Amino acid sequence: MGAKLGTIFARAGHEVVFSYARSEAKLKRLARAAGGKARVGTPREAAQNADAVLLAVHWLRFDDMLAQAGDLSGKVVITCSLPMNADDTGLVVAHTSSGAEELAKRIPGARVVSAFGTIPSEVLFGVYAARRRARRPSLVYCGDDRKARSVAVKLIRDAGFDPVDAGPLRIARYLEPFTMLIAQLAYEGKGGPQLAYRFERYRK
Ligand SMILES: NC(=O)c1ccc[n+]([C@@H]2O[C@H](COP(=O)([O-])OP(=O)(O)OC[C@H]3O[C@@H](n4cnc5c(N)ncnc54)[C@H](OP(=O)(O)O)[C@@H]3O)[C@@H](O)[C@H]2O)c1
Repeated sequence: MGAKLGTIFARAGHEVVFSYARSEAKLKRLARAAGGKARVGTPREAAQNADAVLLAVHWLRFDDMLAQAGDLSGKVVITCSLPMNADDTGLVVAHTSSGAEELAKRIPGARVVSAFGTIPSEVLFGVYAARRRARRPSLVYCGDDRKARSVAVKLIRDAGFDPVDAGPLRIARYLEPFTMLIAQLAYEGKGGPQLAYRFERYRK
């Protein structure tokens, strides 16, 4: 998710710092391939001067990643991470809380928004390539902080989606299980993982 979204954001004109992987060579290759103003940095360097930080790591890596990122107070933190168990078969937080809410409790000064976690990574480049079409796929997001929400909306649009405001951060407890449905359709359904969704309203 981080590799693809970072590449898309770089191609959309943002200054992107790729960070957090076991191989720095992989990050360097990613930054080169993304082009534009993409580069590599430590999690702390990536977070320090960023207008937005995308967290795209496994739930079980949060402790390590947050320790490396340092102080995120005041930062817009966009999480697409789901609170999955070790073998990625189920959510370990659900119904009465969410991964996004638990994250927000751990970085109380940060402006946390949940976005991009409801679609499979395999569809991202296709949606970006089709961004000039009139009917874009939806992308739900939620968060409590006004600034974080507006940054997320801009990035969602830049990636080729139509942002759908789902409300405050606690709604992530519905977004995250919804993603399990999307994953079921993408990875177990017949059409393959290049799946996005679109909400439409019908009025008389
Ligand atoms: N994949 C999807 O379609 C999708 C969709 C919606 C939400 N999500 C959520 O998005 C998050 C990221 O998923 P992903 O599929 O993008 O995961 P991923 O491909 O495994 O990427 C996670 C990142 O963490 C790094 N990493 C893993 N172990 C590490 C370690 N021990 N030390 C340092 N870096 C480490 C990986 O780098 P290396 O492996 O190269 O070291 C990679 O840069 C997850 O929380 C997932 O639930 C994923």
